[in-house]
Amino acid sequence: MEYAEFKEIVLGRRSIRTFTDQEVTKEEIFELIDCARYAPSDTNSQTWQFIAIINKEIIKEIEKITWDELNKKAAEAEKRGLKKEARLLLRSFGPYATAFSDAPVLIVCLATPYNSKFREKIFDPIQLVENEIWQEEGIKSSCLATQNLMLAAHAKGLGTCPMTGPVLLASDKIRNLLNIKQDRQINMVVALGYPNGNPTKIPRKSVEEILTIVS
Ligand SMILES: Cc1cc2nc3c(=O)[nH]c(=O)nc-3n(C[C@H](O)[C@H](O)[C@H](O)COP(=O)(O)O)c2cc1C
Repeated sequence: MEYAEFKEIVLGRRSIRTFTDQEVTKEEIFELIDCARYAPSDTNSQTWQFIAIINKEIIKEIEKITWDELNKKAAEAEKRGLKKEARLLLRSFGPYATAFSDAPVLIVCLATPYNSKFREKIFDPIQLVENEIWQEEGIKSSCLATQNLMLAAHAKGLGTCPMTGPVLLASDKIRNLLNIKQDRQINMVVALGYPNGNPTKIPRKSVEEILTIVS
């Protein structure tokens, strides 16, 4: 593949929030996860797992759970005198946190515990870092795998939207609904389907703004 083709895929990926009715097959999902698993991970720990929900009723249930939590948080905020914030939470964050509702597939991206020979034989005995840091380590690799998945989806003409909205609001309820073990972290969910239309490009910070070269 030429670099220009690769760059086109990277620049062309956009967060997709409306989808056509076209089905995403299990083979297509399998292919995306096949790409995801080639992401790098700390000491090749491969701290990722994926749950692909293709049942519309379960996706709707996650949407409902998310709205329930949004309403609860808004009511609590209003009680504390934060009326404007409560309204904004519902009007602005609500649709953003439930933008997966139209998707034929919802992929729940998990981070599994980071365990390795390094950790067991060196890091833990010398207490290199706090335990929470190891949780972050799993999340880092899980994010890279998820990006592979999204780029692969885009290259296949599929659309995705990475989302933490429902996780921030309703992580415990989603965990219960899907029987996710306590030692797995719900990193994010990814809406997946065939895009309905082309969203407009979203600006990016310039390279000069985000890059420091140390020479
Ligand atoms: C960690 C993370 C969380 C996100 N959460 C949401 C979300 O809850 N709802 C949503 O609609 N989009 C979500 N997005 C998508 C961003 O809004 C989107 O990536 C950003 O606006 C840039 O647009 P683009 O992906 O089309 O380039 C999230 C993206 C990331 C990386």
